[in-house]
Amino acid sequence: MAETPEVFEGAETMNGQAAEGTWEPKILGILCNWCSYAGADLAGSARLQHPPNVRIVRVPCSGRVDPQFVLKGFLRGFDGVLVSGCHPGDCHYAKGNYYARRRLTLLTRFLETMGIPRERFQFQWVSASEGARWAESVREMTERIRKLGPFQGVGRPVPLLIPVVARQAETQPVGVEAQ
Ligand code: FES
Repeated sequence: MAETPEVFEGAETMNGQAAEGTWEPKILGILCNWCSYAGADLAGSARLQHPPNVRIVRVPCSGRVDPQFVLKGFLRGFDGVLVSGCHPGDCHYAKGNYYARRRLTLLTRFLETMGIPRERFQFQWVSASEGARWAESVREMTERIRKLGPFQGVGRPVPLLIPVVARQAETQPVGVEAQ
């Protein structure tokens, strides 16, 4: 994923708000182009109300999301990370979201080990027609992060382990489950 500098600048701006006592949750959203980004776009064009706390990075498919992207989000000062892709069976590249689910499920197990509460990370499905679902998930996640407060930093960073574990898991047969 190419880093989007303005997204991370946005995180720094919001860090400044914390210093002034006007803290607002800052959430990194990594969205697949074909479903979730279109769903978020629909929420905007339909003028569905949701908090402006998510900074979005668009990727071709959730299967492109390396677990290190999530860790990098936390390391760069985001309070939460939200990854969203097409529903199972709807991936534009057939199985990308199944690979993502496997990798990110493993990542979720490792988060606590690294001192990152699981509640700060969310992986979900949003289709291009689910603008309301996107708006609702942004509302829910923003409120959850608001209750948790500012992220205090990674406790025990072991990010190099993650891709190794994820690659090992990918050698296993793909379990295609509907959710
Ligand atoms: S194209 Fe959306 S998850 Fe693969």
